[in-house]
Amino acid sequence: MTATVVDNIGLLVTNDPGNGDGSALGVVRDAAMVLEADRVVWVGHRAQAPSADTHVDLDRQTVVPGFVDSHSHLIFASDRADEFASRMAGTRYTAGGIAATLIATREASNETLRSNASSLLAEMVSSGTTTVEIKSGYGLTTDDEVRGLAIAQSLTPESTFLGAHVVPIEYQGRRDDYVSLVTGPMLDACAPGTRWIDVFCDRGAFSVDEARTILQAGVSRGLLPRLHAHQLERTGAVQLGVELDAASVDHCNYMSDADVDALAGSATVATVLPGADFSTRSVYADARRMIDAGVVVALATDCNPGSSYTTSMPFCIAVAVRDMHLTPAEALWAATAGGARALRRDDIGVLAVGKRADFAVIAAPSYVHLAYRPGVALVSATWKSGT
Ligand code: NIG
Ligand code: FE
Repeated sequence: MTATVVDNIGLLVTNDPGNGDGSALGVVRDAAMVLEADRVVWVGHRAQAPSADTHVDLDRQTVVPGFVDSHSHLIFASDRADEFASRMAGTRYTAGGIAATLIATREASNETLRSNASSLLAEMVSSGTTTVEIKSGYGLTTDDEVRGLAIAQSLTPESTFLGAHVVPIEYQGRRDDYVSLVTGPMLDACAPGTRWIDVFCDRGAFSVDEARTILQAGVSRGLLPRLHAHQLERTGAVQLGVELDAASVDHCNYMSDADVDALAGSATVATVLPGADFSTRSVYADARRMIDAGVVVALATDCNPGSSYTTSMPFCIAVAVRDMHLTPAEALWAATAGGARALRRDDIGVLAVGKRADFAVIAAPSYVHLAYRPGVALVSATWKSGT
């Protein structure tokens, strides 16, 4: 098998506390990595690096594990720039805007939806993302959800059925019928090849009881649960996520002490979405409080045309540091290892022997520059599965 040595790394973040400086980031200076096929086979100081068939010199740049963007909605048509502009002039964000994207998405061809999602994914990759979760949820008919998930599945192994995004207009006054559709024929059609099920459990979307019914139906068809929780108000969705052993509860803007304690004693990750808080001008999720309480926190973009139209994990890291009061090290961990935990993956988010060779090269002397130089395209290369 051909081996490649990635050499002359000024600073390497491994996320392996057993390596390097002993911190959670496992930082190794003057480092090298050897890759074979899609895996890392050696990590350490470059002076000790074994020989390899191919040599790549990174000229003292920084290497970090590829970003794991564990929450995105890439399957849609059109955008909502006017809604964003009016929000910046004072209008409040509500779940109601989803309906506008629904209409455009239903009208769009498969080719349009595929090419939009592929363009957004290309933006993600160029900013260092190597794994992305992609949700359906802007179709909300069985056929539209199935075609959205087919596109998502062609782009990532981490596809999510979000038939329970909102109750679509044609079911107004008949929400029980819509829940029956989502837990019945729509779920049956959408489950094959899909890994996750999600519910937008919040004001203007679904109640905790509806979310429990929908997630349990998904679990009974072999899907794994995750939840949109406490973005707009404190509904009880966070503790529902813990009750159902959801991999992640996402947003977490409104949290009681009991919510934080429940997460801290569980395997459920809190995924915070700084892009959504920024673009809806909301109170930022208190990631600092959650980390201090022992909750595992992940960072993701929530890329969607309404509340967070960014594909950039470096942007999310910068906002998490500036406005959520994470240290640059905590924010980087949350955007990599934290995202992997939110997707229940142990083969990504860490650069160690046997793990996937997924990493981002940062044209800077340290990962701190990701937050210190906000809005600057510092990712000079993204390696996915060893290439
Ligand atoms: O995660 N909150 C629900 N879904 C998206 C926003 C959807 C939209 O406004 O189109 C979110 O923020
Ligand atoms: Fe979302």
